Amino acid sequence: MVAGVDSSTQSCKIVVCEAATGRVVRQARAGHPDGTQVSADAWWSAFEEARSGGLLDGVQAIAVGGQQHGMVTLDDADRLVRDAMLWNDTSSAPQAAELVDELGGAPAWVDAVDLVPVASFTGTKLRWLAEQEPDNAAQTETVVLPHDWLTGRILKDGNGFQGWTTDRGDASGTAYWSPVTGEYRHDLLRRAFGRDVQVPRVVGASEAAGRTAGGMLVAAGTGDNAAAALGLAIEPGDVVVSLGTSGAVFTVHDRPVGDVSGAVAGFADATGRHLPLLATLNAARVLVAAASTLDVDLAGLDALAASAPIGADGLTLLPYLDGERTPNLPMAQGTLAGITRANSTPAHLARAYVEGMLCNLKGCIDALARNDIHASRVLLIGGAAAASTVRSAAADIFGVPVLVPEPGEYVALGAARQAAWALAGGSAPPEWDVPVAATVEPSDPGAGAVAAGRYRDLVDARHPGAVIR
Ligand code: XUL
Repeated sequence: MVAGVDSSTQSCKIVVCEAATGRVVRQARAGHPDGTQVSADAWWSAFEEARSGGLLDGVQAIAVGGQQHGMVTLDDADRLVRDAMLWNDTSSAPQAAELVDELGGAPAWVDAVDLVPVASFTGTKLRWLAEQEPDNAAQTETVVLPHDWLTGRILKDGNGFQGWTTDRGDASGTAYWSPVTGEYRHDLLRRAFGRDVQVPRVVGASEAAGRTAGGMLVAAGTGDNAAAALGLAIEPGDVVVSLGTSGAVFTVHDRPVGDVSGAVAGFADATGRHLPLLATLNAARVLVAAASTLDVDLAGLDALAASAPIGADGLTLLPYLDGERTPNLPMAQGTLAGITRANSTPAHLARAYVEGMLCNLKGCIDALARNDIHASRVLLIGGAAAASTVRSAAADIFGVPVLVPEPGEYVALGAARQAAWALAGGSAPPEWDVPVAATVEPSDPGAGAVAAGRYRDLVDARHPGAVIR
């Protein structure tokens, strides 16, 4: 048996599966404090709570999938220097802009590490720490990522720790490791932090990070999106659209991306390929806001949206309720446009919110296409993928078939699949089935394209120069 962990921004989930098939035999979850700066100890406490009661009995191998990018700083005795600064902490936006300029702009960064720094990425947080908290910076000897830290804690707890490790997927979200050469860019790390600092050893895709004294193999682990790609067993042409509170759009690809617009981050995946990815702030939270405005629950919102036509008779929402990361408009607010007497109904409003959320994600799919990465189908995951109007509107607006996998812990499953791979060896992870709940074909892609075009025109009018639209 193998186990996979999803150490996310809100909780720790563990699944225990049969190594050969991926069939889940048991699972557990424990919450921990949420936020943008959180003590890494909270992730360990949640892991301990989730595994309590013998959850890991009989498990031969485990791997951790963790939220990407978080900066975990350790002193010379591996003690935490301060709370971890997470992917959703935007304090380092000015430092990101400084770093982009210093190296000579976006093309120089893409050439170096296949992405253009934004506040989410670890290197920009190190620059922030050096500038804003010099005492904490002075104490920092080592910097690791959330999944690296939990992997190391599991090994320390099992008396098998032999130094900090990471994998290529998570290393590629730091902005100081190159997915093209497979090596750290220590020059960029020094540029960000002002001096050298220890970073974890990059473990190969199917290698072990270590073994506990009890003999449990601890695999490399990876970032959560790379783990989800493994859990969903995606191949080039499959684009995952994740509708959590915030959104992510990603796929696997055989070569680096090279997007000098900075919209698509050219991360590495957890197998040796690449993971072009765009992240948005406004996904399911847009539907929660709509439900609150209309005083209905999410099922009620779905039913209302179903009773308005595709395109909501011209009512169009730009869903930047919390600013936005993609397009990079951190200070933006939402816009509702095209209001007429005919579309002033709760049903049209519900539909406009659903479509606004999806049109923003369609902009991400289009940004992939501009880099010659084309979606032949979309895999829709995350809480909001349960709503039938979201599924059908997604097929029409994206213009490709939408496949909805059965609800599942795909990050934890992907980590478990990596653990099974490390256990069995071989050149590829074991084949595990991904059960499909529904496949939705576009019913009126013409109307979907009109709605998406109207949305793009509104972005151009309200936010000229926005990089995706
Ligand atoms: C990706 C990103 C998020 C986090 C969420 O760049 O910042 O998807 O990985 O945990």
